[in-house]
Amino acid sequence: MAGTPFDQLSGDIWYDGTFVPWSEAKLHVLSHGLHYGSSVFEGERAYGGRIFKSEEHTERLLASARMLGFEIPYTAEQINAAKEETLARMNLTDAYIRPVAWRGSEMMGISAQHNTIHLAIATWEWPSYFKPEERLKGIRLDMAEYRRPAPATAPFKAKAAGLYMICTISKHAAEAKGYTDALMLDWRGQVAEATGANVFFVKDGKIHTPTPDCFLNGITRQTVIGLARDRGIEVVERVIMPEELPEFEQCFVTGTAAEVTPVSEIAGNTYQVGDIIKTLMQDYDAAVRPQTPALQAAAG
Ligand SMILES: Cc1ncc(COP(=O)(O)O)c(C=O)c1O
Repeated sequence: MAGTPFDQLSGDIWYDGTFVPWSEAKLHVLSHGLHYGSSVFEGERAYGGRIFKSEEHTERLLASARMLGFEIPYTAEQINAAKEETLARMNLTDAYIRPVAWRGSEMMGISAQHNTIHLAIATWEWPSYFKPEERLKGIRLDMAEYRRPAPATAPFKAKAAGLYMICTISKHAAEAKGYTDALMLDWRGQVAEATGANVFFVKDGKIHTPTPDCFLNGITRQTVIGLARDRGIEVVERVIMPEELPEFEQCFVTGTAAEVTPVSEIAGNTYQVGDIIKTLMQDYDAAVRPQTPALQAAAG
């Protein structure tokens, strides 16, 4: 069930350099970003008042815009400060942060060379995606109909709104069949990722994950690979074919929203929520939370 519609939440949204009341953070229907997908965004989380990997998200936002051929008219420092200000103004400590940049309305056609570039930053309370006990059961994935496009067909490193069209179609189809999400293959038929998260598998004590050569190399993915290696767990980035899915023992997905979430099934192949996943869930939780002296002392 959907809760309060997102345009009806309260508070303020940072919009082109100033704060506007939530209900007034609007754009015109003739915006290039809406018609032609010239829009890029980020999904970030704050834990205990600190935005996890804020600088990395800002760099990716600026890079995504450049891959779409536009320059966001704010520096990384200004964007980082604006995110902090938005969080403080909303009086939030555990929250989701959504910066979004798009081409405006001056030209309404394929070409939009001189359209104004807009940037907005909204934040809202968003505790854990799933309750811990529910997360430990694992989510169920179906196989997606659509595939991640080849690098020669789209700027795959951009977190661009247009690239999510096939994700929403795929997720809706999976949900209609009672699944939580869908696993997407790439254009070659290799395992790629879920619709909004990267995927990992465990077999014989080693972690296997697809090489991110045509999909987002998630910030959470990179964090979790580091955490696993810190634990001495081998992580192999390689080609994974769907025929291998029955052979894996554990599976999990990673993403800013999903954090580390176990997967219990992919289209009939079942997986255990094993020790490696539980360890990485705990390690990720510890990594994202600010280390106060009290917490450090408690951790011994
Ligand atoms: C398609 C897709 N892949 C992977 C990820 C994971 O990225 P990150 O860990 O940077 O949130 C996301 C989430 O942003 C995503 O939407």
